[in-house]
Amino acid sequence: MKFFIDTADIDDISALAETGMIDGVTTNPSLVAKTGRAFTEVIAEICAIVPGPISAEVTATEAEGMIEEGRKLAAIAGNVAIKVPLTPDGLRACKALSDAGTMVNVTLCFSAAQAILAAKAGATFVSPFVGRLDDIGSDGMELISDICEIYANYPEFGTEVLVASVRHPMHVIEAARIGAEVVTIPPKILRQLYNHPLTDKGLAAFLADWEKTGQTIL
Ligand code: G3P
Repeated sequence: MKFFIDTADIDDISALAETGMIDGVTTNPSLVAKTGRAFTEVIAEICAIVPGPISAEVTATEAEGMIEEGRKLAAIAGNVAIKVPLTPDGLRACKALSDAGTMVNVTLCFSAAQAILAAKAGATFVSPFVGRLDDIGSDGMELISDICEIYANYPEFGTEVLVASVRHPMHVIEAARIGAEVVTIPPKILRQLYNHPLTDKGLAAFLADWEKTGQTIL
């Protein structure tokens, strides 16, 4: 299972890259806007920190514009994955860019039917947004399960399921249980994955007992 981090914050990316847990990064226009920095500059910096796929999203809404923007973003570094929205134009752009050998992440996927289209368009990744489905009273993880089941019927689909809009550690655990290839996790939630009160309590007790022995290992 691959872990991507869902942020454009360079400090968070640098710190989390050191954990050795990070296989890629996803950004979107909202995350880039939060940094207040130039888009291409931020993407270039992220690509230099994390060697895995770095998603950079186009903002044109017509296929030709998306393809042109996609080519420009892909030229930043060899590990850029172009993010396109799940629209008819987005899927045309996906096909053109992936035929040219560029990784493409089809984003804003909210149904299994859309995920089938993304796979047929040659997407490298499809990003179903689980949190936003949960927000409207749907079951985001059920969609992940449906897409994984459908993709398993068609070995010719090379598209990986990238679970996005993750809101809590249970989304990560459920994604792993279902067998999704990738989950993109906001930094705060990634840090939460490490935590358990019994780990802290147990470590404090071990260290207190060790202290009493008066020994050191080194
Ligand atoms: O990057 C796409 C996705 O992860 C956005 O998440 O929390 O804005 O729904 P969220």
